[in-house]
Amino acid sequence: MYGHNLEPCATIKLLKIALERGLRMSKFYVELKKVVDDSYDIEIGKNLFETLIKDLKGELGKGISRYAIITDSNVKTLYGDRLYDLMKEEGFKVDLMSFPAGETSKTRATKEIIEDSMLAKGHRRDSCIIALGGGVVTDLAGFIAGTFGRGIPFINYSTSILGAADASVGGKTAVDTPLATNLIGLIYQPKKVYIDLATWETLPKKQVSNGLAETIKHACMADEAFFTFLEENIEKLLEEEGIRKHFEICQHIAETNCRIKYEVVKKDERESNLRQILNLGHTVGRAIETLSGYDLLHGQAVAIGMAMQVKIGEKLGYITKEEADRVIALFEKAGLPTKLPEEMSTEEVVQKLYTDKKVRQGKIRFVFEEGIGRIKRHEDGNYSIALEEEFIRKTIDEVR
Ligand code: GLY
Repeated sequence: MYGHNLEPCATIKLLKIALERGLRMSKFYVELKKVVDDSYDIEIGKNLFETLIKDLKGELGKGISRYAIITDSNVKTLYGDRLYDLMKEEGFKVDLMSFPAGETSKTRATKEIIEDSMLAKGHRRDSCIIALGGGVVTDLAGFIAGTFGRGIPFINYSTSILGAADASVGGKTAVDTPLATNLIGLIYQPKKVYIDLATWETLPKKQVSNGLAETIKHACMADEAFFTFLEENIEKLLEEEGIRKHFEICQHIAETNCRIKYEVVKKDERESNLRQILNLGHTVGRAIETLSGYDLLHGQAVAIGMAMQVKIGEKLGYITKEEADRVIALFEKAGLPTKLPEEMSTEEVVQKLYTDKKVRQGKIRFVFEEGIGRIKRHEDGNYSIALEEEFIRKTIDEVR
């Protein structure tokens, strides 16, 4: 066909003639079966810049000509400038890009600004992104990596408890939209994840609490002993200098979060069913995070969502009152809210639930824990269940 510059209408005419004459048409099957190995290491420790640089000089940096460190305004000052200087001293070609800290920066607009800046600085397909920061940074930078030049490698260097517990592992990357969080994104796996516990020492108390919400969620869904460990130790982290004084607790939290999360992700990377369990508490959580205009931090919204989840679960008989109270008490111990903000009406919360990614056939779906440390699996094998809007409205109204 190439070389025959036929007008579209001439092509259609020829096809028509061919069909009328019963001539054999051509049909191709484009076989594109893939065997992909996206496995990667997670390294947990303190002060890991030297390790990162050593890795980049070895296998991890193979084929990469230049690096873009992407970070936010807070982390840039605390760690970004230092990593940039170290990499420069070691002879790497590297740029440092930052955006204003906070969830409100996790947008398509910020993505575009960073992409244009990378293009202007000459980044191409042989570049690699180093996402240095918490969940907002790794979600956004991972999404940029997944689409820049149709996909370049990226490395997550996590500097927050929230990032370590959730966003830096599992390959979910995204930006928020005015309608809801994380609606536009990709599943795109990093080449390596570093979890630097020394960086937790500079987190303000509010961010320590924020990070602990996903940690408690993991305990609720998969590990009762971890839940008990948190009951006994979580308050220590909120003491003055708590993170610095209790390194072993931080290490245990980081390791257990990673284990629980990767056990789920490796079985169901694309969330066909099992991965939905990581959404525990997020049906209400994500809705109220958006409704608050991001005044609620992600962990705070998840804590309230988890409280709603156990209260609805109690009504459905999945968890006892004593267990539900224990879950709520643990969130409160971690300095997190467990009640819907007064100013949010039940109705606006219910309507926002329809933006949840689990909605199927127009039905709002919830994931529930069964007691503490287990997830409820329903008779049809699903880990989420559709609930009637009226039941949700009535229950939220009763328990809020
Ligand atoms: N944050 C939920 C997930 O990674 O699936």
